[in-house]
Amino acid sequence: AAATAHPVAEAQAAGRLTIVYGSQTGNAKRLAEQLARQSEAAGLAVRLLRADAYPTRELKDERNLYLVISTQGDGDPPDDARALVEFIAGKRAPQLKQLRYAVLALGDSSYPQFCAIGQKLDERLAELGATRLLPRGDADLDIETIATPWLAQALAKAKEALKPTAPLATVTPLRPLPATPAHGRDAPFAAELLLNQRLVTRASSVGRPGPDKDVRHIELSLEGSGLHYEPGDAVGLWPSNPPALVDAVLATLQLDGNDQVSAGGQQLPLRTWLTDKRELTQLARPFVATLAAQARNDELNGLLAPGQQVQLSRLLAEQQVIDLLTQYRADWTGEELVAALRPLTPRLYSIASSQKQVGDEVHLTVAHVEYDNGHGTRWGAASHQLAASAEGARLPVFIEHNERFRLPADASRDVIMIGPGTGVAPFRGFLQERAAIDAPGRNWLLFGNPHFRTDFLYQVEWQQALKDGRLHRLDLAFSRDQERKVYVQHRLREHGRELFAWLEAGAHVYVCGDATRMARDVHAALLEAIAEHGGKSADDANDYLNDLQQQGRYARDVY
Ligand code: 2AM
Repeated sequence: AAATAHPVAEAQAAGRLTIVYGSQTGNAKRLAEQLARQSEAAGLAVRLLRADAYPTRELKDERNLYLVISTQGDGDPPDDARALVEFIAGKRAPQLKQLRYAVLALGDSSYPQFCAIGQKLDERLAELGATRLLPRGDADLDIETIATPWLAQALAKAKEALKPTAPLATVTPLRPLPATPAHGRDAPFAAELLLNQRLVTRASSVGRPGPDKDVRHIELSLEGSGLHYEPGDAVGLWPSNPPALVDAVLATLQLDGNDQVSAGGQQLPLRTWLTDKRELTQLARPFVATLAAQARNDELNGLLAPGQQVQLSRLLAEQQVIDLLTQYRADWTGEELVAALRPLTPRLYSIASSQKQVGDEVHLTVAHVEYDNGHGTRWGAASHQLAASAEGARLPVFIEHNERFRLPADASRDVIMIGPGTGVAPFRGFLQERAAIDAPGRNWLLFGNPHFRTDFLYQVEWQQALKDGRLHRLDLAFSRDQERKVYVQHRLREHGRELFAWLEAGAHVYVCGDATRMARDVHAALLEAIAEHGGKSADDANDYLNDLQQQGRYARDVY
């Protein structure tokens, strides 16, 4: 039989816990690391792996496996987990009777495919004969609500299953974590706002959050924070809700902001809960469910029925908490309200600078989310806070490292940067970095936005870089300047021959921006160019692009 067990691998696997994560924005990674640290502290032999570093041939010998994996927009796996998900879901996956496992899934419940990848793996592993150690956790944007108890249970189960045995010399100990910096996600740094500058201004939009009509160039000071970043990293900002919005919620429910309210073992004034601890600008399904029960409302209850996903998603995208509280009246106590709203989560912004050029500063490119949804002006909490802040204001930030979105270590490699809209941000950082180190490789930028006249973000900088020879190619797609839409992927197709030649010469490709539409279409355009100009079948082109991804030469920072 092909599946003869390898005795050494088997002995190793028996006494060891393997933790694998697939992470797009770093949350799954953070949780997997946390579980690995705790398991190690409990005396267990642990190996922690990013999904694309997991040798799939070892799965048939694996005995104890925890998977922490997120789901992107339309039900896609994170880029680093694509191959592993395909392998486990695919026909060639081995029987896994020897395996005990559990899955922690991360997702966003405003998408119909909530936690779909975690669910798929969880079900498939059972189908292959593996034993589930504990039920899957499906964590929403307020990750910790589900993740914290799941991790505690997972640790307890692992301790039971893996009584600390004689240490196995062959197990690689976890890399010691570097000295913990003073500031991080749970202890943000109060960064001074140095510059808040409009890059784009257009007439206001009505309805859904539309194209970005107000884009800001933001500069913050990290002086004295001890924080450092690399191009490709992101800034995390803990937003506060706009005071006027908090007032409106309090007035609508006739609640007093000074009332002390307890939740999760903490007692704070209601106003503080609503300003700094709970989401008001993002709606989620659980809140709609609580409101439907609280208001005994049939219309809302109907929206929660299985066939109504499209309508519900629309409601979640267009409305905010205040809109529903106004339309569906109910009696709320402060406690009930705080319990029903989900915890505030930090927002991530791709960094638009290089420390080699800007020192202690960090620059961001921020689309101010502001629209009229028919009930009034609505904002995104973090982007509005940034847009509304004056120079000198202090904002609570941290750095979210992104090891998967990095310039080539070999500076002589060419880079192709695809970043329409605010997706251009990290490429400003890339270009600054490449200029600072005199990288000999060529730089090709593809940028798109609605109009040349109003939306050409950092126009002067790109044109100066072209002139100075720091930027070698610039291709633009202003979608609404002509009758037919032109997008970055059209430019990729037009220049498919050069694109393929750059790839063959070792170029790295980066995509940043909208995940659900743009990144998909760009992916398809890359495949087409590789097939056409490389003389390859669709399957071979797919292998070629997967290969690039495995080599870290095709990286995406998409949201
Ligand atoms: P549009 O809004 O005119 O359709 C940044 O948001 C730019 O990305 C805009 O010019 C926007 O065009 C464009 N865009 C919209 N959908 C896209 C897609 N599927 N692929 C690439 N670009 C897209």
